[in-house]
Amino acid sequence: MIAPSILSADFARLADEAAAVATADWLHVDVMDAHFVPNLTIGLPVVKSLRKATDIPLDCHLMIEDPDRWAVGYAEAGAYNVTVHVEAANDPVRLAKDLRAAGAKAGLSLKPGTTLESCVDVLKHYDTLLVMSVEPGFGGQSFMAEVLDKVRAARRMVDTGHLKLVIEIDGGINADTIEQAAEAGVDCFVAGSAVYDAADPGAALERLRAQATRAR
Ligand code: DX5
Ligand code: ZN
Repeated sequence: MIAPSILSADFARLADEAAAVATADWLHVDVMDAHFVPNLTIGLPVVKSLRKATDIPLDCHLMIEDPDRWAVGYAEAGAYNVTVHVEAANDPVRLAKDLRAAGAKAGLSLKPGTTLESCVDVLKHYDTLLVMSVEPGFGGQSFMAEVLDKVRAARRMVDTGHLKLVIEIDGGINADTIEQAAEAGVDCFVAGSAVYDAADPGAALERLRAQATRAR
C-alpha cells in the first residue's frame, strides 16, 4: 500500500492534490503542534474538510502532545486510521480502545530511537504500527536505514502470530529506499516529497508501488 503524505502538497489546493493521487490506498495527513515536534501544520478543521473532499481513506499521523485528549476527535471526524506517538501518549492502551470505539483503526508510531521491545504489550491493542524512518517534524529528510531492524522484528512478530498489525514506514521513502523497506517487511509506505515533488504525483505513486511489489 502507498500513502502519499500531503505535507509536501500545496496546502491551498488540498482537494486537487488528493485528486492527483486518486489510486492511493491511504492519504497520509501529518498533524504537528509545534510542541511534540518543532513544526506546525494542520488540525481537525482541515481533516474535516478533506474528509468531504476525497474518498481516499485518511491516515492521520498525530505528532502532538497529549494525544489522549485530542486523538479521538480525528476518529470522530472520519479518519480511517489515527496514529499517535507512544512517546507522547499517557495511556496508549486506553487510547487504542477509545479510537476503535469511535470507529477508526488505532495506530501507534515509534520515533527512530524508540525500541519495539518497549512497546510490544501495548501494540497488542493496535491495528497499525508506524515506524518512523526520520526524526518526525519535516518532509524531505534522509532515510534512516537502521530502523529496518525494527521493521524486520515487527514482521517476524506478525508472521508468527504474536502481533496483528499493518506495518507502515514514514520518512525518506523514495525510489532509492523503498525496495529495502519492502524487503524488510513493510506493508504500507508513506511518501511525501517523492510523490508531490514529482511532475505527475499519480504516476510517481504507481512507480513506487511497482518497485515495492517487485521487492516484496
Ligand atoms: C515527517 C512526516 C512524514 C513526511 C514524510 O515527520 O511524518 O509523513 O511527510 O515526508 P518525506 O516522504 O518527504 O520524507
Ligand atoms: Zn507522517
